[in-house]
Amino acid sequence: MEIIVRETAQEMSKTAARVVARLLNSKPDAVIGLATGSTPLGLYQELVRMHKEEGLDFSQATTFNLDEYVGLTQQHPQSYHYFMHENLFKHINIAKQNIYIPSGTTDNYQAFCEWYEKRIEDCGGIDLQILGIGSDGHIAFNEPSSSLGSRTRIKTLARQTIEDNARFFDSLDQVPIYAITMGVGTILEARKIILLANGQKKAAAVAAAVEGPVTSMITASALQLHRDAMCIVDRGAASELKMLDYYQWIQAKMPDAP
Ligand code: F6R
Repeated sequence: MEIIVRETAQEMSKTAARVVARLLNSKPDAVIGLATGSTPLGLYQELVRMHKEEGLDFSQATTFNLDEYVGLTQQHPQSYHYFMHENLFKHINIAKQNIYIPSGTTDNYQAFCEWYEKRIEDCGGIDLQILGIGSDGHIAFNEPSSSLGSRTRIKTLARQTIEDNARFFDSLDQVPIYAITMGVGTILEARKIILLANGQKKAAAVAAAVEGPVTSMITASALQLHRDAMCIVDRGAASELKMLDYYQWIQAKMPDAP
C-alpha cells in the first residue's frame, strides 16, 4: 500500500481531490466509488471548488456509494442519500441517472443487493474507490468478522460504530442498527482505492489496517491485498504508524526515484 502523510486534513483532502481530478481528466466517463461520513467532507468541498473554479467536469461520470442506513428515507437528514446530495451532487454537474446509492427502503434487500452488484459490473467496474475507516477498522460498513470476500448485503452495525455515529443523531437509540453495504470483495475489485483518515482517533485503526496482519477483524487490512491502494492520512491519523519515517523517506525520495 502507498502511504501518503500530509500535515493537515485539508492537505489530505486536496491530495485525494487531485487524484480524482486526474482520473476525470483522463477518463471523463470514469466510475467513482464514494463514501460518506466526516472524513470525505473536505474532499467533496475541494471537488466542488475544482468544478466551479477550474471546470472539473462530472457530466459523464458515474458514482456508486458504499452504503446506506436501512430504514432511512432519501429525505432523512441523516441518510447517505441526503448527505451526498447536500455535500456533493447538488453542487456539481453530475447526471442524476448516473448516481447510484444503496436503497435503505427497498422491500426486497436481497434482490436490490444483487442488482447493485450487477449495475457496478455493467458500468464497467469501479475505477477509483474512496474509503474512510471506522475506529474499529471497518471499510464501508464491513464490521469486524465480515468476510473478506463479502459482496453487497445487509450488515448489523457494531456497537462501537453506532456509538461513533450517534454524534449525527439526536440520541443513541435513533442510530439505525442495520446498513446495506458493499462487501469487502466488492471494494477490492475497484481498480484503484484511496483510504482516507484524519485525526488521532483513527490512528490505531490506520496502524492496524496498514501494518497489522490481514484479518477480517480489521476489514481495512484487506487493502494490503490490493495492487493499487493508497492510504492518505494527516499527522494525527499517522501517529501510531511504526514505519512512519520510512513512508516519509519514500515520499521525500520520490522525485529522484528511477
Ligand atoms: C461511510 C462509510 C464508513 C465511514 C467510516 C468513517 O460511507 O463507509 O465506513 O467511512 O465509518 O466515518 P467518519 O468519516 O465519519 O469517521
